[in-house]
Amino acid sequence: MFTGKNIVLGVTGGIAAYKACEVVSRLKKLGAEVDVIMTENATKLVAPLTFETLSCRPVCVDTFSRTESWDVKHISLAQKADLFVVAPATANLMAKLAHGIADDMLSTTLLATKAPILLAPAMNTGMWTATATQENLRTLQNRGVHTVGPASGFLACGDTGAGRMSEPVQIVEEIQRLLTLKADMDGLKVLVTAGPTVERIDPVRYLTNDSSGKMGFAIAQAAIDRGAEVTVLCGNVHISPPSQAKIVRVQSTQDLYDAMMKHCDEQDVIIQAAAPADYRVKEIAPEKIKKQDGAAMVLELVENPDVAKAVGQRKHSGQTLVGFAAETENLLENAERKLTKKNLDLIVANDVSQEGAGFGVDTNIVSLLTKNGLEQLPLMKKQEVAHRILDKVIQLRADN
Ligand code: CTP
Repeated sequence: MFTGKNIVLGVTGGIAAYKACEVVSRLKKLGAEVDVIMTENATKLVAPLTFETLSCRPVCVDTFSRTESWDVKHISLAQKADLFVVAPATANLMAKLAHGIADDMLSTTLLATKAPILLAPAMNTGMWTATATQENLRTLQNRGVHTVGPASGFLACGDTGAGRMSEPVQIVEEIQRLLTLKADMDGLKVLVTAGPTVERIDPVRYLTNDSSGKMGFAIAQAAIDRGAEVTVLCGNVHISPPSQAKIVRVQSTQDLYDAMMKHCDEQDVIIQAAAPADYRVKEIAPEKIKKQDGAAMVLELVENPDVAKAVGQRKHSGQTLVGFAAETENLLENAERKLTKKNLDLIVANDVSQEGAGFGVDTNIVSLLTKNGLEQLPLMKKQEVAHRILDKVIQLRADN
């Protein structure tokens, strides 16, 4: 899978350094060439010989102290890398990279590389949540540095919280994702809607649905990774949005409609993965509604605007419109009807009653329906589904 790929792995002095051994072992099994650079502190936790044995290559530690020509080594490794991974990445390493400090072999090579960089942060919760670390993280992400984790859990220092390095298998999955990226959406403006909308009933209650925003965010991330400039109109979502997207938060379907009308004309591709509430209460109660002593509660609902239909009516040439159809019955008939009614180029038909599909979960089972045909996809991760949708979008744009 990784044959011909050169991965440089930086290992810093966090206790998770031992897990980096498994990362090297997995990468080697997948056919990659791996060069390991360790910081001095890392060598106190894991012997360089372990990495040398796993990678079948010499390990670099210090810029000047070895007998070989290390002075040029940092440049040759920087240039050779298809991907530069640092696992674990300590708060110190992140701070140095954010500020361009190059005072050892690893930081020097990182500063010199033009390869994509993936960091797997690992540190104590207090260090991770420190304003300095979070600002450094944002600086690095804004420069396009990728991160995986950290996860939450029991930490070596005895604390429990965010800061655990992601598991080797997840780091390798992320490496695979980054190495297989395409740049076929370079220069395209893509708008994605994600998550549920919320319709207020009174100051403490609302109507909503089970959408998590995971599918929309996966599409947004995939489009960013393929070079697009991405805007996300985001409903009531409780997971972190992709850091390189422009995020516009909305509450109600009417808010989504308004935001969409403001942003849609300038987009090349619009993908509507949100689940906007179809109805809102006619009158939002200004105060908390009280119980009615056993009498039935009746809420009068009125229909919300259909955002996708409105976008379809404004569609201009060169625009590609994608919608979702979340169904529990008659999947393809309903999807076909929506494709026409909303003037879409592609509809992603989603039987949300199937196990492993739909709201909340990390996988999905979808069919891609266009005017010219149907492609049924098996159960796959939402990230993979996202790329398949974008592949179809690129194909549709090429055919037009
Ligand atoms: N959609 C929208 N505005 C709405 C409802 C849905 O823009 N008020 C969009 C969704 O984002 C999705 C597509 O339309 O891309 C289909 O959504 P879905 O809920 O499956 O269909 P509806 O049009 O609401 O039809 P129904 O609820 O009758 O199945």
